[in-house]
Amino acid sequence: MVDLINVSYDTQIPNNVGLSQDRRVLKALEKWHPGYLNWWGKLIPQNFQDSMVYLRTAVSVDPKGWAKFGYVKMPDYRWGVLLAPQVEDRRIPFGEHAGQPAWQEVPGEYRNMLKRLIVIQGDTEPGSVEQQRFLGLTAPSLYDMRNLFQVNVEEGRHLWAMVYLLHKYFGKDGREEADDLLRRQSGSQEAPRMLGAFNEETPDWLSFFMFTYFTDRDGKMQLESLAQSGFDPLSRTCRFMLTEEAHHMFVGETGVGRVVQRTCDAMAAAGLRDPFEIGKVRDLGVIDLPTIQKKLNLHYSLSLDLFGQEVSTNAANAFNAGIKGRYMENRIDDDHRLTNATYKVRNVVGGQIAEEEVPALTAINMRLRDDYIRDAAGGVGRWNKIIEKSGLPFQLELPHEAFHRQIGVFSATKASPAGDILSEAQWSANRDAWLPSKADGDYIQSLMVPCYEPGQYASWIAPPKVGIDGKRGEFEYVQIHHA
Ligand SMILES: [Fe+2]
Ligand SMILES: [Fe+2]
Repeated sequence: MVDLINVSYDTQIPNNVGLSQDRRVLKALEKWHPGYLNWWGKLIPQNFQDSMVYLRTAVSVDPKGWAKFGYVKMPDYRWGVLLAPQVEDRRIPFGEHAGQPAWQEVPGEYRNMLKRLIVIQGDTEPGSVEQQRFLGLTAPSLYDMRNLFQVNVEEGRHLWAMVYLLHKYFGKDGREEADDLLRRQSGSQEAPRMLGAFNEETPDWLSFFMFTYFTDRDGKMQLESLAQSGFDPLSRTCRFMLTEEAHHMFVGETGVGRVVQRTCDAMAAAGLRDPFEIGKVRDLGVIDLPTIQKKLNLHYSLSLDLFGQEVSTNAANAFNAGIKGRYMENRIDDDHRLTNATYKVRNVVGGQIAEEEVPALTAINMRLRDDYIRDAAGGVGRWNKIIEKSGLPFQLELPHEAFHRQIGVFSATKASPAGDILSEAQWSANRDAWLPSKADGDYIQSLMVPCYEPGQYASWIAPPKVGIDGKRGEFEYVQIHHA
């Protein structure tokens, strides 16, 4: 009898899908496993491969007790295949098959569409680990280093999740796709990752925090809509991944919040009142608020691009097919088929941003992006509370969705963060006021010196309010020089 809540360790690959009784898939995964370890081994600098990291590992998919904390060397982390428990008599929640029993096998007519969605999701997971590979060398504390590595091993596990689906349900071409997930590389000329934001650099820790806040949140929205899928194994996989994703966004939100906090504290201590006196603020060894805003502008706009074209027949087809739903589909009060519904999308018409109604079915991407924008605004509000408390006249803001876009209707025009359409010349003249300049990057880079003393933090970031797993101040989250 297969235990679908607790993780079984009777094979090399921890799982709750009964792998030991599924010889074909077990063999395929065992064949893929060395390539994965090789990928991990080449990725993270050697000294950290040998360090003992205080990580959580999933031991159950029960929301109440799934994580166990303990020291582990990252190459020994028990990556595994974990699906949320099967819901009895689950039905396809939307699209033309709405109400029919959810599929336990891949429906032939949607095989390619499903495979493509799984490969795209799978490609982002190792991509982000590749982007973050050198950050351990400049960690502002052992606490932050531990969080980085936690995010990294969990993105590795998310890759496993997608590779399991490919091996289990897509035969030979699934295996080939799984191999290609290890072949592509973030930023590579010959074989880059599939989506733009996953080929950008994550050069410093402020970028890492912005990335986990904004880009992991795109991941959350994609997983939420795949968790609605009528293809039940995909839905169950994504539901469990979402429990891990929450921690990634926590790392991002609290990370940015701590940078903001430190800047406000340092300015107060020095009696500085003007956030735009950048030189004076930087003399304090902290990151000035306007530069934090520029980093936000960059990572937010790159993340908006991940939602694809606003109006998309692919997205309409995936919804119709019951493969990829909307955010919180189960809470939306409509026919879940969108037969006659419309949705408002923005567009650029005659040099102006205009709104138009289109069939809701074609605007699935747009709707998800709108949901994302609402979701992303929450943390920005909490960052502003920190600034407000310090009494500084400054507010962080999400830029307009037309700002700095490379995908979708706004990619053809230039726009300011306020959403004003600009000429090329106006854009170039202001670019460095809105996005991190070379000098901003150099300054932030100059702050990126490691701080490996337990309980100590680099000059530019405040300590966290609470530790991980209830640990306090001096706790050694990473034993770097463990022999
Ligand atoms: Fe992920
Ligand atoms: Fe993530």
